[in-house]
Amino acid sequence: MTTTKQFGPQGWTPERLGSLQGKTYVITGANAGAGFEATRTLLTKGAKIVMMNRNAEKSAAAIETLKQEFGGDARVTFVRLDLAVLDSVRQAAAELLETVPRIDALICNAAIAQVAKQELTVEGFESQLGVNHFGHFLLCGLLFDRIEESRGRIVVVGSNAYKMGLKKIQFEDLNFDQNYTAWNAYAQSKLAQMMFAYELQRRVHAAGKQVQVRVCHPGASRTNLLNDTASLPMKMLWKVISPFIAQSAEKGSWPEVMCATEEGLKPQALYGPTQRVETVGPVGECPLEPLAVNQEAATQLWSLSEQKTCYSWSP
Ligand SMILES: NC(=O)c1ccc[n+]([C@@H]2O[C@H](COP(=O)([O-])OP(=O)(O)OC[C@H]3O[C@@H](n4cnc5c(N)ncnc54)[C@H](OP(=O)(O)O)[C@@H]3O)[C@@H](O)[C@H]2O)c1
Repeated sequence: MTTTKQFGPQGWTPERLGSLQGKTYVITGANAGAGFEATRTLLTKGAKIVMMNRNAEKSAAAIETLKQEFGGDARVTFVRLDLAVLDSVRQAAAELLETVPRIDALICNAAIAQVAKQELTVEGFESQLGVNHFGHFLLCGLLFDRIEESRGRIVVVGSNAYKMGLKKIQFEDLNFDQNYTAWNAYAQSKLAQMMFAYELQRRVHAAGKQVQVRVCHPGASRTNLLNDTASLPMKMLWKVISPFIAQSAEKGSWPEVMCATEEGLKPQALYGPTQRVETVGPVGECPLEPLAVNQEAATQLWSLSEQKTCYSWSP
């Protein structure tokens, strides 16, 4: 059942944040959209932010904007990461481990969506599954021990799309070589991210480790998500309807900020906006469909992800 009760009728808002001095948050895809807004909010409370972005120019521009707002000594830096390329993920993780001594939360925010025609990453993964899931799976594995040392969190930014599309991981044709559609492939990638998160929770618990894994979604938010990748009709449709059905990118960022900072959140839960079929409105706990916590599929996905990323790990 959708509920905002835990945080009152307004739901969770950044007003609940206390000082974040001394805390370090690592956010993928933070030069734009919800990741950028999460960075802004966390900076207002004195946190240090490490953005992991694929584009150096956009990152420099984002940092410049933030320094204009928060002053030249705002603690925001950038590590280059292209989640579509596993070598880039390995290099970025190595750079981060050398330069960032603690990670209070890794926010897996970056994504591509609604890729109009089937595209493959250099490793041959369907692009949305490759960027959104396999790239983050490897990154989380490489950074896990540092997050554990920091008693930190992993926040996975999912989507309501997880319960749309085919509602399963299509193990027999992961790349949609047959019958590719932008919706089905995006939905599979977000379901994979969420299944991974709940499986990681189970493994963390079984291993007696401390890392908290939290899962959220931003509802429908006005960001750049469809700009580069979606078909022209999809972009036009979104342009027309988004002013009526979607909220600001800032509000879309609140669930991930909440999951990175708030105490007392439940592990096997999904947090996000709670109104109009969980697209907008007060942030709280949303319904979670059983398909996201299907342990058999999650175990199979974990093994497959280890094989595809050539990285075996468990907490
Ligand atoms: N907006 C919505 O309505 C909505 C709904 C449901 C879920 N979500 C989820 O919310 C999260 C944030 O998305 P958003 O809406 O804020 O979209 P956005 O404005 O497009 O931001 C996505 C970020 O991911 C980065 N990114 C894309 N591919 C990457 C790669 N290969 N390596 C590293 N970074 C990469 C982008 O970098 P560039 O700037 O270089 O492209 C950008 O910084 C995503 O997980 C998305 O699935 C959004």
